Amino acid sequence: MQNIILCGFMGCGKTTVGKLLSQVLEMEYIDLDAMIEETAGKPIPQIFSEDGEEAFRDLEHEAVLSLGRRIRCVVSTGGGAMTYERNARAVSPDDRVVFLDVNFPTCYQRIRYSARPLVRNNPQKTLEKIFQQRRAKYLQAAAITVDGSLPPLEVAQAIQNALSNR
Ligand code: S3P
Repeated sequence: MQNIILCGFMGCGKTTVGKLLSQVLEMEYIDLDAMIEETAGKPIPQIFSEDGEEAFRDLEHEAVLSLGRRIRCVVSTGGGAMTYERNARAVSPDDRVVFLDVNFPTCYQRIRYSARPLVRNNPQKTLEKIFQQRRAKYLQAAAITVDGSLPPLEVAQAIQNALSNR
């Protein structure tokens, strides 16, 4: 196993669990959104407003491709990353994609007041539709699905167990 790639909807805990898991497994931690912001030289809301979502998705794709040059990293992706086929396909067969499954109301409670462009630009009903469409794609992209609604340490442990049982 090379990299562990966490996916799931905004607010499912990818960053919290990713950081924790990287400490437990003594692996490097990579935040894909932070990588994109560094490349663009501006925060994600500004990329969306000045350059558009398509430009953001291209940067995101480049960031996913760059994981091919990394080993032993725990990676938190943005909520959209693994829902695009070109990104899911770009993941190395040696990497393990893990889906943090958390229901929509829980995710929404956590993100509703955030500056995330998708949250600011869409009403709750639309976000819920996006959530449903994406969930099928996370399930498809991931080798492992864990209940992400547990406390972060338990989620990290569930991921560790699932990885060692494979
Ligand atoms: C996005 C999720 C965000 C970020 C961008 C787009 C999405 O990441 O990549 O705002 O399409 O769901 P988080 O899932 O970490 O909030």
